[in-house]
Amino acid sequence: MVFRFQETRDVSATAESDYQTRRRFLTSLGVGTAGAIATVATVRHWRQPPITAQPPIESFARNNTFSVTRPLTKENRVLRFNNFYEFAADKRSVVRHSRGFRLDPYTLVVDGLVKRPLALGLEDLQAMQLEERVYRFRCVEAWAMTVPWVGIPLASILARVEPTAGAKYVAFESFFDVSQAPRQADQQYPWPYREGLRIEEAMNPLAFIALGMYGRFLQPQNGAPVRIVLPWKYGFKGPKSVVNITLTATRPPSFWHTLQPLEYGFTANVDPAVPHPRWSQSHEIEIGGWGRRRPTLKFNGYGEWVAHLYPRR
Ligand code: MTE
Repeated sequence: MVFRFQETRDVSATAESDYQTRRRFLTSLGVGTAGAIATVATVRHWRQPPITAQPPIESFARNNTFSVTRPLTKENRVLRFNNFYEFAADKRSVVRHSRGFRLDPYTLVVDGLVKRPLALGLEDLQAMQLEERVYRFRCVEAWAMTVPWVGIPLASILARVEPTAGAKYVAFESFFDVSQAPRQADQQYPWPYREGLRIEEAMNPLAFIALGMYGRFLQPQNGAPVRIVLPWKYGFKGPKSVVNITLTATRPPSFWHTLQPLEYGFTANVDPAVPHPRWSQSHEIEIGGWGRRRPTLKFNGYGEWVAHLYPRR
């Protein structure tokens, strides 16, 4: 069994309802006696018609530098199976609860220890030279996807603001709007969702700011209008619906690390040899792959690009 959740939730800061939702999710992957019933619900969920509300992105170039050999995950699966705790803890209902979510007007502020702070409107970002990159995506919960993202390298934005010598970290902050995301009123979570990187990690060519996927602008449930994608790290390191990028001298807070520091590290690189305290990371399940397991790759297969950032001491 890939997942070994404890029967008690004493080590979990996750709310009871979230915990039960996670158990239902595991069951739906075939773990537990109610697997057959849950599988029917899962099939019904994924048979719903494709969501195509967002307009296609007219111009972008394919960047094959980081190409992968795995087939793409079906778009409808990526659109209907989400982690976005601002809207729901149940992966299949995020799509429903986030429908209509909009940050309008949208501004991405890039500030902190920089020479030239920036405030970029959505039009500014969309007018940049956009590229498509197919990345493997790995969630800490041991499921995986393969997604064609469209966006811009994070390093290109950081170069524009000219970080000062004192800038050692890059902090990301997601939106905060209780009127659109009522779960943000729940004070057991440290809203808004925050994450961070060392500046060398943020400058790595793999670090990406996504505006779209599958050739369309992002849907709300996938982090519209702008999210961070870091393919060598677990998915929780990449915040959705980001409104602020700040260069700092000290290590910034991280949402899940703040909640459960022993379960979610700050670095959080994909590593089959480092189990999560409650389950193994040795294997992963592809979403839409009918429960097929395959070995997890160290750095999610991106060691060539990032291993030098983590020298063994
Ligand atoms: N960003 C915000 N703001 N809120 C979240 O709950 N969940 C993270 C990450 N970014 C999350 C977030 C986690 S745990 C994962 S696995 C990915 O988003 C899921 O992205 P997806 O729903 O597009 O697959």
